[in-house]
Amino acid sequence: MDSLPKQLKGLIGPSILNADLSALADESRRLLNAGADYLHLDVMDGHFVPNLTIGHPVIKCLRKNIPKVYFDAHMMVDKPEQWIEEIAGAGVNQYTFHIEATTPENIRDIIRKIKEADMKVGLGIKPKTNVNVLSEFINDIDVVLIMTVEPGFGGQKFMGDMMEKIRWLRKTYPQLLHIEVDGGVNMKTIQDCAQAGANMIVSGSALMDSKQQNKDIEQMRQLVDESLKNRKFDIQLSNDQHCSH
Ligand code: DX5
Ligand code: ZN
Repeated sequence: MDSLPKQLKGLIGPSILNADLSALADESRRLLNAGADYLHLDVMDGHFVPNLTIGHPVIKCLRKNIPKVYFDAHMMVDKPEQWIEEIAGAGVNQYTFHIEATTPENIRDIIRKIKEADMKVGLGIKPKTNVNVLSEFINDIDVVLIMTVEPGFGGQKFMGDMMEKIRWLRKTYPQLLHIEVDGGVNMKTIQDCAQAGANMIVSGSALMDSKQQNKDIEQMRQLVDESLKNRKFDIQLSNDQHCSH
């Protein structure tokens, strides 16, 4: 895909964190040929998280090799306002930053700047952050990111108790389209994510290590789509009940 769909559907975005980063373009092409919908690019600054990865210069080179595909930059950085221009200039479509990386007063300003730079806005929370803090921004952003590991490293264990946040978001904000889940998502834990109502699925090490990326990506997307279809039915049911009173 080259932009966010306006309807609710399953989208699989492999994280390239555990890829062979010296062959990033080839690794990315391999995942896209296997059916990935978008690429999730993990940017770390060594401050917000205790690790370093890639930044806008690498993403800019990757964009030259991979035109058109939707790039989601997961900004695990302090001062997220600092990189908006550079990341937009590198050809990124979605700037996903963390609510914990800045002060509440700054968040609105950052959201506005991201939009002015012509990118979609993703707002993420770490596992220990209460989901309520997202409420006042829900109508101004495009994607909510729920972390299911402490950000910083690939290959960690999925935190199933984060699913409650996703369920709550889906129930409380039916107008919210895109809920992204990131950390420890594999062929097993995808079931929980799908059932809770997540639709943008980030998966790093599980897809990198897979010998059948094609099949796995397809199966992940199918599980999500099926679950979303069933949930829609639930929502309609409760609306009907409401109307008949
Ligand atoms: C963790 C990153 C994730 C991570 C996902 O800080 O934000 O995107 O790379 O990798 P897995 O799926 O291996 O947890
Ligand atoms: Zn990530």
